[in-house]
Amino acid sequence: MKKVIIVGAGLAGSYIATQLPADYDITIITKKTRIDSNSMLAQGGIAAALDEGDSPKVHEEDTLKAGKYHNDEQAVKQLVTIGPQLIDDLIAQGMKFDRESDGQLSFGLEGAHRFRRILHAQGDQTGHALTEFVQSTIRNDIKWEENTTVLDLVVEKGECQGVVIRNRKGAIKTKYADFTILASGGLGHLYPLTTNDQTITGDGIALAFRNNIKLKDMAYVQFHPTLLTKNDKCYGLITEAIRGAGAILIDENGNKIMEDTPQKDLAPRDVVTRKLKAWQQKGHRLFLDISKIQSFKQKFPGVSRNLANHQIDFERTKKIPIQPGAHFFMGGIKTDLDAQTSLKRLYAVGEVACNGVHGANRLASNSLLDCLVSSNRAAEAIAKTPTAENKNNDYTVDSPSNSDIKSKLPSKDVLLEKTWKQIGVVRSKTDLNNFLNWLDKFNYKELNPKQLSSKDLTIANLCICAELIAKSALAQPKSLGANYIKGV
Ligand code: SIN
Repeated sequence: MKKVIIVGAGLAGSYIATQLPADYDITIITKKTRIDSNSMLAQGGIAAALDEGDSPKVHEEDTLKAGKYHNDEQAVKQLVTIGPQLIDDLIAQGMKFDRESDGQLSFGLEGAHRFRRILHAQGDQTGHALTEFVQSTIRNDIKWEENTTVLDLVVEKGECQGVVIRNRKGAIKTKYADFTILASGGLGHLYPLTTNDQTITGDGIALAFRNNIKLKDMAYVQFHPTLLTKNDKCYGLITEAIRGAGAILIDENGNKIMEDTPQKDLAPRDVVTRKLKAWQQKGHRLFLDISKIQSFKQKFPGVSRNLANHQIDFERTKKIPIQPGAHFFMGGIKTDLDAQTSLKRLYAVGEVACNGVHGANRLASNSLLDCLVSSNRAAEAIAKTPTAENKNNDYTVDSPSNSDIKSKLPSKDVLLEKTWKQIGVVRSKTDLNNFLNWLDKFNYKELNPKQLSSKDLTIANLCICAELIAKSALAQPKSLGANYIKGV
């Protein structure tokens, strides 16, 4: 029987568990619980050319344009053609997307889309509804290992044969498998303001780096224009679908910030974010004016609840205080169209992976779609690949290893202050070099994950990601999409 380990329980990890043949022995390992993922927090929706008049070709063109044509064209074609079929399958299985009063699917609009093609569920709670639905279809015999950290990969005979974990009781074990699938998400918590779930700390990328697995497009971090912020702290995403429904970005004096930009408030995310940053630098505060939206609470129940929980009087003021913050990572573990990484028997799907589909700037609501498509492709490829030879069959308990290396790590707060200023929305060669010189004082690359506390492992993983982002940013010949370097 083929043994599969899936690392991560968001949409990509959960969906691949439903796509693999029914007789496989599957374990899903997740750092916290099955409800802790970025997918669960996704609001706006999932893009698919399903409406009359729209077509995969136009969706493809919009994706390439937003991505600054840095995308892998074949990956984009695969996304826009297979994606709608997988959504149809989910609907046939009982997934309930929102519908108009005549029963037709309801399509929202988001930045840089020429058509209304954003399917949504429970208003602005699409990620939660979709991930929960997919999880409800996972077979009962699939094993879950929650509150479990993956510390390393087992690489033997040039292929991945499983993972080393620290389980909920703190025991370190090796678990063997024919196939390992990384679906562990991006790196939002490398920045102090982020929409990401607290578990998202670049772990999969650091794991790949430590095992010399190829990475791609590390310079490209997407900053979302509208995070709900109070006293410079983020309290969640304010979905772009709200701008799609007519909200506009204004400053404290009511000036329309995006007025002079083509596509205005629905310009691509990198464009809107940089404009907001420039406005902030002139000393302005930023708001989303929702006065044009009728029945706001009915259309955006999740956001409305969150605003009320944080005492934002949006019903009276019709304004929401926002700032840009880290949202999505376009780079990641390099894969082919079947989600195969540079290490045999290791696959990567969803945000941790980079098959090039998002280019230099992801088109809104393409990420949940990519979770479905990359997982579907990986499942098909795995089904066609024979089991591993000479594989051990079960867990082995590792004895603790000793090391003389004492960790020298920065404090997380200082690291995040620096990433925000020096490898954030607007970069400069001087800042990137200064940041790398500062990081050089620490020994995060030499440390053995098995000997680190979970707090120190997180800091070491974040440092690895930060270094890779800064180096990749410096290596780009010109500013492109989300990698904006002053004067370059
Ligand atoms: C949003 O709802 O604004 C986020 C959607 C996305 O990131 O694709």
